[in-house]
Amino acid sequence: MTPKLALLGGAPVRTRPFTPWPIFGKSEEVRLLRTLRSGKWGRLHGNEVASFEQRFAAMHGCKHGIAVVNGTVSLRLALMAAGLRAEDEVIVPPYTFFSTASAVIEANMIPVFADIDLDTFNLDPRAVAAAITPHTRAIIPVHFAGQPADMAALMKLARRHQLFVLEDAAHAHGASCQNRPAGSLGHVASFSFQSSKNLTSGEGGILTTNDDQLAATLRSLQNCGRIPTGVWYEHHVISANYRLGEFQGAVLNAQLDRLPKQTATRDRNGRYLAERLARLPGIHPQQRPAACARHSYHLFMARVDAEEFGAPRSAVIEALRAEGVPCSPGYGFSLHHQPMFRQRAFGPYLPQARARLDYSRTHCPNSDVLCREQGLWLEQALFLGPRADMVDIARAFEKIHEHRAALKDWFAQAQAKSPRDAK
Ligand SMILES: Cc1ncc(COP(=O)(O)O)c(C=O)c1O
Repeated sequence: MTPKLALLGGAPVRTRPFTPWPIFGKSEEVRLLRTLRSGKWGRLHGNEVASFEQRFAAMHGCKHGIAVVNGTVSLRLALMAAGLRAEDEVIVPPYTFFSTASAVIEANMIPVFADIDLDTFNLDPRAVAAAITPHTRAIIPVHFAGQPADMAALMKLARRHQLFVLEDAAHAHGASCQNRPAGSLGHVASFSFQSSKNLTSGEGGILTTNDDQLAATLRSLQNCGRIPTGVWYEHHVISANYRLGEFQGAVLNAQLDRLPKQTATRDRNGRYLAERLARLPGIHPQQRPAACARHSYHLFMARVDAEEFGAPRSAVIEALRAEGVPCSPGYGFSLHHQPMFRQRAFGPYLPQARARLDYSRTHCPNSDVLCREQGLWLEQALFLGPRADMVDIARAFEKIHEHRAALKDWFAQAQAKSPRDAK
């Protein structure tokens, strides 16, 4: 038997910190200073963003990259560029960040939620098929945690129903499936460079596509509705200035040099941890389909079975933290339960459809169970260290499982003292 749980005063498995994030060095400094001194700080004058767009797109199997201010605006611009109309329906998963659905509303379209698969945590193509109506025009699969969604099945559905497919690849820099990079699997893809992301400049986003026409429309939308043959103060479509700045481009170029090696490390470590934790009763790591050649592990995700531990997820998380493993339960509720959806607080959007939309009728039990009871997240930077870091994380899980009777008692006592959230 290993020594007692750290939660109960035992020695923690891990006392050293894991890899800090972000990682940066001389190359970021050189590029940032060069940009500063050049005086060319905007996208229209310097070369950092332009060069980053090309490099990032090529690395993700695409001809075109259009960098924008964040990974939410990118989703909205993609829907606008697709020529969709007001109050068209767009199918999205309920287990994702707010933006995947809020961007649909900000494009004046209707998000329709289809449940996720409880093994892969990605959109379930059967749920998508069931959600299609005569008004459906698009699907936004999220490559959740960095594992590509079932794009073969989703693209088949899209072809049959003539739907536009926008990959939300905010977690999936460098991921691949069916021997093709995430970002090149749908009609267009959106990535985020917000602080937590695997490739970051603090804020930022990019759209990737192989469709020349779509790219030209996106370029215009990114740049106040201008067109290449127009004069400066000539605007052809409704849009705004969504251009990314040169300082962010400078950081992203330096970060991009690091990405392939970091992605390989995360994938190697994540795969090892998943294999090891899958042996543990009550822990169900995200299942990886054979088609997923590279998982970018923006998150390492697992389901915790409370019955096996005799204590809820919150107790397992507290025990893991005490053992020195930072982790979280992730989203607390599915997107359609967000107050914004429940109250239809859509601002000026969806003026006609609003009255008939009732998100309290949306039924996505798999997403709900992940949010409310079972989901567990470990963040990407934990996966940038050596194999020994994975061994420590695995040992912490194993120790807690071994001492689950003690955890159960601890939780029961804590509850008797002050009844608490059992999730
Ligand atoms: C799945 C997903 N989509 C979109 C976004 C939005 O990206 P941004 O924060 O750059 O707007 C995020 C950010 O967390 C995300 O996780």
